Amino acid sequence: MSAPPSPPRDRAAVLCGLAGWLPSRVVTNQELAGRLDTSDTWIRTRTGIGRRHFAEPGQATSDLAVEAGRRALRSAGVEEVDVVIVATTTPDRSCPATAPLVADRLGLTGAAAFDVGAVCTGFVYGLASAAGLIAAGVAERVLLIGADTYSTIVDPDDRTNAIIFGDGAGAVVLRVGHADEPGAVGHFDLGSDGAGEELIMVAAGGSRQRSTPGPVAPQDHHFAMRGKEVFRHAVTRMTASARATLTLADCKVDDIDRIVPHQANLRILRSVAEDLGLPPERLVTNVESVGNTGAASIPLALADAAAQHTVQAGEHVLLTAFGGGLTWGSCLLTWPALARIDDPHKTWERQEP
Ligand code: UT7
Repeated sequence: MSAPPSPPRDRAAVLCGLAGWLPSRVVTNQELAGRLDTSDTWIRTRTGIGRRHFAEPGQATSDLAVEAGRRALRSAGVEEVDVVIVATTTPDRSCPATAPLVADRLGLTGAAAFDVGAVCTGFVYGLASAAGLIAAGVAERVLLIGADTYSTIVDPDDRTNAIIFGDGAGAVVLRVGHADEPGAVGHFDLGSDGAGEELIMVAAGGSRQRSTPGPVAPQDHHFAMRGKEVFRHAVTRMTASARATLTLADCKVDDIDRIVPHQANLRILRSVAEDLGLPPERLVTNVESVGNTGAASIPLALADAAAQHTVQAGEHVLLTAFGGGLTWGSCLLTWPALARIDDPHKTWERQEP
């Protein structure tokens, strides 16, 4: 998207709540190596992933989204919002959207609610949508949830994709505030290139495949990705988008304290940081413990970093994402002082009161 204006200073979106949630089932590399032609060493070396979480049978994306959303509302200390947005590639159903169901289960019936479909860029697109609604005066408070259950669409026998993806949800609450206060969500760069549609795809289940006569091949319901090409696009697109955002904000790379990229593959994340000239210690990553969780990956990484105090209030944080579409997007924010943050790896161990 070319040169959007600076965010209005009087109605900026400010991040005031954050949470992540992971289903309890942990799937280690060793477990996958027990049934697939792969190894812990291959997975760690090629992706940096050590384990991931899978939803239990019967657990859907909305179940994860509700848990993350509830905790984000608690982190923000609010009980009501005007809008609920769910970014996901794995909605509960193709119709209706998942967000109204999530809103209802969170006691937010009546709030506007819709899904964002931008695959792994969904959270950044959702953030831009939320910031726009707040800046335009349509909403005072927005709950944005990134949630995905890739285990429901990845072929468990596809060794290339089955090792990468995990399930999870992350959520933020945004409120109206000022562009110069901690938590302010700043400049955005968003883009797409539909010519790359076939690089990341679930072929069946939409209007295109349904119009084809004859039975649908089972593999067409599974997630398909041309990994090597996607790898190259991910590095170049995230790097270019991050640079474009810095230019819009009139920032230098040195001004960035933390970069939080979509957690696709540790090699991709390191390449992006290196290409931007950011030292490795400024890279925030939790891919080792959760894998690639799609639209949940950035908010889950943020929640992990906040719980471990690796990001401090006032720091300048750069988010960048890439996903199917192809889509990409980046955003700058100043880290807020959050009143409460739970460790996403521990929340499922407790029963909520
Ligand atoms: O979230 C959306 C964005 N997604 C991404 O950014 C993912 C981007 N892509 C990737 O992360 C990587 O391309 C993969 C992890 C998917 C694959 O890693 P790679 O280093 O690109 O491997 P490759 O596809 O080039 O395969 C190298 C070899 C092949 O064998 P040959 O042809 O050299 O004999 C594969 O068959 O590794 C083989 N291979 C495996 N071996 C053991 C592929 N998957 C596996 C596996 N275990 N799980």
